[in-house]
Amino acid sequence: MEDTIHGSEPDWLEDTVFYEIYPQSFYDSNGDGIGDIQGIILKLDYIQSLGVKACWLDPCFESPFQDAGYDVSDYYKVAGRYGTNADLKRLFDEAGKRGIRILLDLVPGHTSVLHPWFIESCKPERNQYTDYYIWTDAHWKWEIPGFKLTSGYSQRDGCYVSNFFSFQPALNYGFANPDPDQAWQQSVDAPGPKQVRQELKNIMRYWLEMGASGFRVDIANSLVKADFGNRQTMQLWQEIRYWLDKDFPEARLVSEWSMPSHAIPAGFHMDFCLPFGMPGYTALFRKQYGPSPGTDRYGFNFFDPRGHGNIMEFLDEYLYHYRNTYGKGFISIPTGNHDINPRISKGRTTDELELVFLFLLTMPGVPFIYYGDEIGLRSFDLPSKEGGYERTGSRTPMQWSDAPNAGFSTANREQLYLPIDPSPDRPTVFKHESDPLSLLNRVRELVTIRKTFPALQASAHLDILYAQPGVYPLVYQRASAEEAYIIAINPSSQPVTARLPLQATAVPIRIYGPQDVFTMQDDRLVIHLPGISGGIYRLAK
Ligand code: NOJ
Ligand code: CA
Repeated sequence: MEDTIHGSEPDWLEDTVFYEIYPQSFYDSNGDGIGDIQGIILKLDYIQSLGVKACWLDPCFESPFQDAGYDVSDYYKVAGRYGTNADLKRLFDEAGKRGIRILLDLVPGHTSVLHPWFIESCKPERNQYTDYYIWTDAHWKWEIPGFKLTSGYSQRDGCYVSNFFSFQPALNYGFANPDPDQAWQQSVDAPGPKQVRQELKNIMRYWLEMGASGFRVDIANSLVKADFGNRQTMQLWQEIRYWLDKDFPEARLVSEWSMPSHAIPAGFHMDFCLPFGMPGYTALFRKQYGPSPGTDRYGFNFFDPRGHGNIMEFLDEYLYHYRNTYGKGFISIPTGNHDINPRISKGRTTDELELVFLFLLTMPGVPFIYYGDEIGLRSFDLPSKEGGYERTGSRTPMQWSDAPNAGFSTANREQLYLPIDPSPDRPTVFKHESDPLSLLNRVRELVTIRKTFPALQASAHLDILYAQPGVYPLVYQRASAEEAYIIAINPSSQPVTARLPLQATAVPIRIYGPQDVFTMQDDRLVIHLPGISGGIYRLAK
């Protein structure tokens, strides 16, 4: 693998677009109704055809699947329903042959209650795993502000702390400032937390040696408890990054932290922009509640054709993190993910979705496409599956063709992991392939453009040329030492005009989007964009 895709310079993230795969729902190779690793291997040519150079796979390890696999019971073993470790290795190799790297999902904060470490930790007798999890020292100590505690679960006299659902007991990385009156709160360098840290490295090493190219790290900010300002958690990751750089310098980590100003100095190469840490992300694509007088004048997302969004809700936050992390790491804006319902397609036409991708694929950092978003896969309201609750509706199977079950699986319809879109006009890869103007083909073109021009890639500089609260369009510049591009986006249905702070001597050259949108006014460049339009233009320097 090293030989096929690992060039030395520049960083492979520069021109990489990621594709997130929810393994349950991608492609079922053996007709049991659930996606699997062999299924992903069989679809690698399709993934390659998107132009993406890396995939993030949601957890594929042994698990009782009470939280869709984010409750791991064996970090070293691929879940039987997805295949074997040998299948995963084959996926690394086959993907590598196509220039595609695979990042696994690392869940370092908690395990399943069925993990053997936890089963041992539940025992009243001291053993090797007693301090692998966080337990209070009495079963009735069950109400401590800031913690989710479960009491009465086992014979051990104490309550365990959980990170997310009650069946996800928190691994013990210690407390930032242990309360001296609460002996159960251990310091980060107590023996238990140190062993857990070592276990984390062992797990990472195992998969990296097999051919994984890194990890997406689940709730990466959660490890050290009562860690206000995240200082100790940041130190922990810095130590991991130091170790990683020595032994696996090509490996990359992306955090689910949503606070790039913390995650990047902590050692992550990329951090996601997500609703919980960066509410401006919701203001970008999903805010829909309408204006509420006195509290929010806007109430809609920026990419809404009604034109009542406010781009500054996203930009103020984004630029703060962008400036803090410039040159040190990347912010990753995803189209969506397995936790976000609705999908990006909700309520949008192909032309409107194209503008979302135009934005996503011309911004700095490393973009992520959630499987199916490239064909406008829809989201639904569905009964909860495997702890998905409202998230379930954006985890439905990929739709490939006109075959039964949209080509996802040959199983009976009732056996499918989740249902296929029942509408006759459901999007499929097959339909999109044959239409040159399909979203799929427009996304491919934009990915190709990003890969062609270094000034549109991860680290090239961003300058905002036009952005005003509640006003359209958004215009920005991306520039490398050699060249500069103007990206202009008008998601509103009304034509708009903006005067740019550029004294251009030449009219910019169209790369993508409408022609002849520039005029000059008092030696300033003015852009005129029709409703729902946008483009990329090369600026003569
Ligand atoms: C974030 C994951 O994306 C989500 O799906 C999961 O439920 C929680 N972390 C808990 O691991
Ligand atoms: Ca299967």
